[in-house]
Amino acid sequence: MERAVSALAIRFLEPHDIPAILRIQSNSPEAAQWSQAAYENLRQASQSAWAAEYHGHLAGFLVARVVANEMEILNFGVVPNFRCKGIGRALLQESLTWAAQNGASRAFLEVRASNATARQFYEAHGFASAGVRPNYYRDPDEGALLLTCPLGRK
Ligand SMILES: CC(C)(COP(=O)(O)OP(=O)(O)OC[C@H]1O[C@@H](n2cnc3c(N)ncnc32)[C@H](O)[C@@H]1OP(=O)(O)O)[C@@H](O)C(=O)NCCC(=O)NCCS
Repeated sequence: MERAVSALAIRFLEPHDIPAILRIQSNSPEAAQWSQAAYENLRQASQSAWAAEYHGHLAGFLVARVVANEMEILNFGVVPNFRCKGIGRALLQESLTWAAQNGASRAFLEVRASNATARQFYEAHGFASAGVRPNYYRDPDEGALLLTCPLGRK
């Protein structure tokens, strides 16, 4: 599976992408800081992941899973220098299409309350607040907003 929009291509993440994904993570403190093993074990955890290549550079990634009829976005980040170029949008759309094809009727995720950029990004893509989870995050301690979006209506 590969979808190319000019210089941007979205494809499933491959094992050789993991070092670059770890670099994106460490440059994106808002993203979850997963271990190398967590990416190596995506399949055993019933998770799927996509990589974005932009002008030949690994520019972003998204990890999600579908459980019953719900898709959960588990981790997501774009290289800081490559943000606001539509890469996050392309990753999100690819994952939502995959989730709908795999039986999900709703997507959800948690986001730090202070992550205004991600909140605006998700709201621009049809996600709405469905509640809060107090004290959800550590380092620093912070509550999460639960955001949801219906699938299959676009
Ligand atoms: C959230 C994130 C993945 C978005 O990636 P991106 O490639 O910059 O997003 P896009 O360029 O596709 O933006 C699409 C839309 O999102 C919104 N958006 C993105 N960045 C925004 C910003 N800084 N301010 C306001 N709106 C923004 C806009 O509506 C934009 O639409 P436009 O292109 O018509 O202006 C990126 O900011 C990121 O990696 N953040 C750090 C990690 C993170 O927060 N992950 C999510 C944790 S839940």
